[in-house]
Amino acid sequence: MTDVSTLFTPFRVKGLTLKNRITMTPLYLGYASPDGTVNPLLLDHYREMAASGASLIVVENAAVEEIGSGSPFTLRADGDRFLAGLSELAKTIHGEGALAFLQLNHTGRYAFAPERVAPSPIGSYMGTSREMSEEDIERAIASFASAARRVREAGFDGVEVHGGTGYLIVQFLSARTNQRSDAYGGPLENRMRFPLRVVEAVLEAVGPDFPVGYRFLADEWLPEGLHPQETKVLAGELQKRGVAYLSVMAGTYDSFFLPEYLNEDKKEGYMVHFAHEIKETAARTPVIAAGRIQTPETAGRILEENRADLVGLARVLFADPLWPKKAEGIVREPIVACEPSCSLCMARVATGKPAFCSQWEKARRKRFLERIGEKQEVT
Ligand SMILES: Cc1cc2nc3c(=O)[nH]c(=O)nc-3n(C[C@H](O)[C@H](O)[C@H](O)COP(=O)(O)O)c2cc1C
Repeated sequence: MTDVSTLFTPFRVKGLTLKNRITMTPLYLGYASPDGTVNPLLLDHYREMAASGASLIVVENAAVEEIGSGSPFTLRADGDRFLAGLSELAKTIHGEGALAFLQLNHTGRYAFAPERVAPSPIGSYMGTSREMSEEDIERAIASFASAARRVREAGFDGVEVHGGTGYLIVQFLSARTNQRSDAYGGPLENRMRFPLRVVEAVLEAVGPDFPVGYRFLADEWLPEGLHPQETKVLAGELQKRGVAYLSVMAGTYDSFFLPEYLNEDKKEGYMVHFAHEIKETAARTPVIAAGRIQTPETAGRILEENRADLVGLARVLFADPLWPKKAEGIVREPIVACEPSCSLCMARVATGKPAFCSQWEKARRKRFLERIGEKQEVT
């Protein structure tokens, strides 16, 4: 029998003490207002996530530039006018006793924008992209830095750089999407230049006492894509620069809907082996493992076997916001599992609708749909 008590031991990340090993990894649900601002729906959601008992809530991706935003309902951090809402968000999470980080992102060729920019002019389901000039690159790096400064000013405890899901940072890193012949393309050393410059600029912008985490793509899950052989080199470089943690994931929007990935995604702990591999490479940097960590026993085993330092729950916590309290025995009810064959949350956000969970009780689903003004039969 796995001892789940390890889950409830504190852990230090830079200068912060996490009260336990359970974190929320970013989960974009399409709740922000159409101008990327914080609103009551989003605040109520994060209040509930923070009240779950998880030690750290990493808020979903926020855009560092308007042309890097993934949808009209993506949070934005690219101007001081977003500061008040972001401050309220940080305060709301703190009010429930959790630490708050905000993830910063530029979606590159997946942007919801009239014109998309990317390392190379390779299209996506969003349309074509224009190759970034040196000026575009400098602006994107500076935008990450100024958004990070804003995150700190808003009162968050840390910031996370989104180096996952095939967004701009990964587009530079992967030879599939980076066909440049300048200092940012070609050998791995050059393809790492943009991600590392972003991290360096963010670290410098927030100062040495403010933790900078990194959402780390270990594998693109595509035959000609990035694999640990290359990404482990990046992990070592990120460790050298002093990132606060590596939150390990796999897959991009080019692989998420392939039958092989859909099959993997159904398996409990489907990305944990990548976290383990990265932890062995960057042994001095805390690693978060995510990917359908459905039960406290699975989570406890990951820690016991030293495959990661922290666990990250996204859909799992959304399906049951009492998961941590149930795991600890504070609430004595069975955990409501995220249904492996269901992709309702993803399907909703992909069609521009705020997400809800099929596993919520009927009354809750009904209340949610009424709140967002959507008429739908609830069964
Ligand atoms: C609808 C949806 C939105 C997501 N949004 C983000 C995001 O904004 N940033 C990020 O790094 N990962 C995002 N993820 C990935 C999750 O953080 C997590 O790694 C993945 O869902 C596996 O964990 P889970 O099985 O507990 O959901 C998202 C996943 C889903 C399904």
